[in-house]
Amino acid sequence: SPLPLADRLGRPLRDLRISVTDRCNLRCTYCMPAEVFGPDYAFLPRTELLTFEEIERLAAAFVALGVQKLRLTGGEPLLRRDLPDLVARLTRLEGVQDIALTTNGLLLPRLAAPLKAAGLQRVTVSIDSLDPDIFGRMNGLGTHPDRVLDGIEAALQAGLGVKVNTVVQRGVNDTGLRELWLALRDKAVVRFIEFMDVGNHNGWNMDAVVPSREVLARLSEDGQGTEFQPTQANYRGEVAALHRGKEGHEVGLISSVNAPFCGDCSRARLSAVGILYTCLFAGAGTDLRSTLRSGASDEELRLQIATVWQVRLDRYSEERGEVTTRHKIEMSHIGG
Ligand code: GTP
Ligand code: 5AD
Ligand code: SF4
Ligand code: SF4
Repeated sequence: SPLPLADRLGRPLRDLRISVTDRCNLRCTYCMPAEVFGPDYAFLPRTELLTFEEIERLAAAFVALGVQKLRLTGGEPLLRRDLPDLVARLTRLEGVQDIALTTNGLLLPRLAAPLKAAGLQRVTVSIDSLDPDIFGRMNGLGTHPDRVLDGIEAALQAGLGVKVNTVVQRGVNDTGLRELWLALRDKAVVRFIEFMDVGNHNGWNMDAVVPSREVLARLSEDGQGTEFQPTQANYRGEVAALHRGKEGHEVGLISSVNAPFCGDCSRARLSAVGILYTCLFAGAGTDLRSTLRSGASDEELRLQIATVWQVRLDRYSEERGEVTTRHKIEMSHIGG
């Protein structure tokens, strides 16, 4: 098995999140607000994107350094043409134990079956509300939640495992959380995410964050949350803290603001143009595409990645508050 590569806080490199496009077919206000990401917004030209060959080569280098888990993200990854071909390449890599995809679900009716056939095991689908008005406002385009639910059904039909991500914002979608959980909990593990200060445009402030313990209270029958019991994590460093309700249904709470999990953070992130970031809140990264395109050997590539990881000190979520405002990468470049 590969050498145990650790950063300066002793954290191993285990996960690689790969963004395959910066485009999206939604305009969620907290991620790609339509005022900023309008018709004139300059998205990356296709020639700038890593090719599937390049992504495969980079992923192989990360796997050789200890990565066991891959996740495809965006923007919206299903907008990347021929995505199942990339999945097929990545599932062939020896040493990969888990490969997943984070999506808004809109294109799953068309793509769930080909993705499954290519070797994908599971998807995580984002949906913030089942209320058409609330969801339409939040996604910036008036898109109906039924379109996402159709995507979830298509994934289940295709035999993919499904998790659901719901970002909670106070005064925006914090009223129908129990309904959402009740509607989806038999089909998927629903995880509620504390609204985070990612990117530079989402107008984040602490008042808009609904702490996970309050989410739990809102999910419960009695409004107190007492019926929920914390359960064992599925793996070390699991981002979602799982809880079990009265009838055994699970719910996940992702408390990135109020209970940060940097101590166990083993995630590297690769942007669609091949920049390596060692934190979701990084201001800058390392250009691996240049290394690739300058004709570096696999060994040189691995050495560069290892060097970046070994000096890593990121723990943004634990430092939040200590840090003053600075420029951060956009969520749509790094996929959350
Ligand atoms: P599983 O493998 O299914 O457990 O996936 P996951 O929960 O690690 O991945 P997913 O992309 O679904 O992550 C859920 C959400 O948690 C993300 O969309 C982010 O909002 C948040 N998140 C994931 N990783 C990090 C991280 O490293 N730091 C912070 N601050 N938030 C993260
Ligand atoms: N805070 C919390 N979660 C976010 N996501 C996107 N932006 C934010 C934010 N500001 C979530 C998406 C998706 C996942 C990739 O990250 O809803 O589920
Ligand atoms: Fe698109 Fe996901 Fe960002 Fe919404 S959160 S705009 S679906 S990438
Ligand atoms: Fe990892 Fe950065 Fe998220 Fe902390 S804030 S868990 S270091 S990605």
